Amino acid sequence: MSTEIFLRYIHFISIFVIVSSLVAEHLLLKPGMKRKEIDRLSKIDGVYGFAVLVVLAAGLTLWLGGHGKPAEFYSENALFQTKLGLFLVIGLLSIYPTVFFFKKRKGDPTELVAIPKSIFWMIRLELLLVFAIPLLAGLMAKGIG
Ligand code: HEM
Repeated sequence: MSTEIFLRYIHFISIFVIVSSLVAEHLLLKPGMKRKEIDRLSKIDGVYGFAVLVVLAAGLTLWLGGHGKPAEFYSENALFQTKLGLFLVIGLLSIYPTVFFFKKRKGDPTELVAIPKSIFWMIRLELLLVFAIPLLAGLMAKGIG
């Protein structure tokens, strides 16, 4: 297996993990949650965070590692730049839910905690942006943009 194929495989698998963990978080979210349930969410969020780092590492290596197309092929493509911008927005959107779950997981496991509505919307928005990125990726891989 060539390094490029391996990197593409890792890139894809991490995308699957990102999507599944965001969907799981969204399904588990309730307006009021026990701290032990938030602890579980926080663990899923940890898996999500790890997958984000892996997709970034594989993406950066595909871009700058010299394994496939030259770096300029991507750097000069507006859709690739948009893709990176959306990726950054996803990262920024995930800060608040991550910090919230991390802080609220501690304490009496049966105590009920109110989940802000904004957390629901941030996770939905993250999912929407993650679904938009593969379209940009497919176009830029064909040299469009
Ligand atoms: C959630 C975030 C991301 C998603 C959903 C995503 C999605 C994809 C998809 C679907 C492809 C395959 C395109 C195709 O072959 O048709 C791809 C390829 C690629 N991605 Fe990402 N990506 C993400 C993040 C990143 C990041 C952060 C970088 C760079 C830092 C990056 C760099 C690349 C590169 C260089 C390719 C190779 C394109 C080619 O085959 O020519 N990706 N990405």
